[in-house]
Amino acid sequence: MTSYQFPSDFLWGAATSAYQIEGAANEGGRKPSVWDVFSARRGRVLNGDTGAIANDHYHRYESDVEWMVRLGIQHYRFSISWSRVIPDGRGQVNEVGMDFYRRLVDCLLAKGITPHITLFHWDSPQALETKYGSWRSREMATDFADYCTAVVQRLGDRVTNWMTLNEIICFTHLGYDVLQTPQHAPGTRVPRRKDVWQTSHHALLAHGLGCQAIRAASPQPCSIVLVDNPSITVPLTESPEDIAAAQKAFHVNWANGGIIFPVLTGAYSEIQWEQLGNDAPDILPGDLETIHQPLDALGLNIYTGIYVRATNNAQGYEFLDYAKGYPRLNMPWLWLVPDALYWGIRHIAEVLQRPELPLLITENGCAAQDEKTDKGEILDTDRIVYLREYLRSLHRAVAEGYPVRGYFAWSLMDNFEWSWGYEHRFGLLYNDYRTQQRTPKASFHWYAECIRQNRVV
Ligand code: NOJ
Repeated sequence: MTSYQFPSDFLWGAATSAYQIEGAANEGGRKPSVWDVFSARRGRVLNGDTGAIANDHYHRYESDVEWMVRLGIQHYRFSISWSRVIPDGRGQVNEVGMDFYRRLVDCLLAKGITPHITLFHWDSPQALETKYGSWRSREMATDFADYCTAVVQRLGDRVTNWMTLNEIICFTHLGYDVLQTPQHAPGTRVPRRKDVWQTSHHALLAHGLGCQAIRAASPQPCSIVLVDNPSITVPLTESPEDIAAAQKAFHVNWANGGIIFPVLTGAYSEIQWEQLGNDAPDILPGDLETIHQPLDALGLNIYTGIYVRATNNAQGYEFLDYAKGYPRLNMPWLWLVPDALYWGIRHIAEVLQRPELPLLITENGCAAQDEKTDKGEILDTDRIVYLREYLRSLHRAVAEGYPVRGYFAWSLMDNFEWSWGYEHRFGLLYNDYRTQQRTPKASFHWYAECIRQNRVV
């Protein structure tokens, strides 16, 4: 019998990001980000939704912090909008924009909630897209580092937990795809696969230079984290053969070998590099050293996984299709694979060979078709089942001694789900976008109870 108890110093939190909740797109000197421009284009976002108003968190942050207090989280992960702080992407800092984050941070600290700031969660300044094509250019990496310096100089007296970039693959490979219509801003179609890989290489450089800039600007010791979303391979059975197959397949599952590998090992995975052939990006001398910065922890965003088994083919493994009728949450890609949380953690230790590296689950959660009952309740039992199973899987990793330090639920509240607009709700709080009223869902109360008892309930 296990009570799924977590260690007493385990961190419980929730996460959001700037463009998804802030709104106030034209206020306080903010200029457009690539997401403002992308979502204003016809046919790019479901129902023509944009983040112009979103959850109006810019004006309602104080009452949102009150909801965090009710939830009982001691840690809150949110992001800063680059174009609010440096509206032209480089140059002049907009102190009015910075003031918003000063107020938010002070409000959190006054309530005993520790801020964890993501410096980049996809909403880069449109000015840099116009100037040089954002992530298509190496210049983006130095501009990002300068932006990090500006923020850390201003908030580093009260913030010590920094996260550089969120989910590199999404704003690079999905923002510049050659084969399909890009689902993410800036939505530029580049001519070759190699150009796509070049954008993620530039983002890796931005991470490396960003780490150096944060350490140099911080007036006190601080923690620096990269938030990645490796695509998780899960062994079909836990036989030694299937485990070895899942570990080998992990290198080439989507872009793992070209993103998480260079960050944690200082080199692209050989297996992935070989597969890339002429599609591999150009790497200049010194790039890999810059990318391979010491990290205080790795942030993992894990939502789903894919099953792998050993087989008698050249590579020794195969990816399996999901069974017809396999359970899925309210997103085409969101298969219910709770074991992905455990295997994601174990792969960092065994495949990347970084067993000492502290880990944070920086996002986990699901979209559901939340509806209010006649009594005004939102009984999201599907979300509770999802979260409970994933937390049990996380507990297994903790119990086996993997260095997982904390968990952030995605998301504190329903918000702008990128190209899926507002229809797909990920929140613990329900948001009524007409009135901006927040209503706790059943999962909010359930998660609050987990935090209160420090275990999965
Ligand atoms: C990961 C992203 O970081 C976040 O912005 C998004 O809303 C969630 N996944 C859900 O898709």
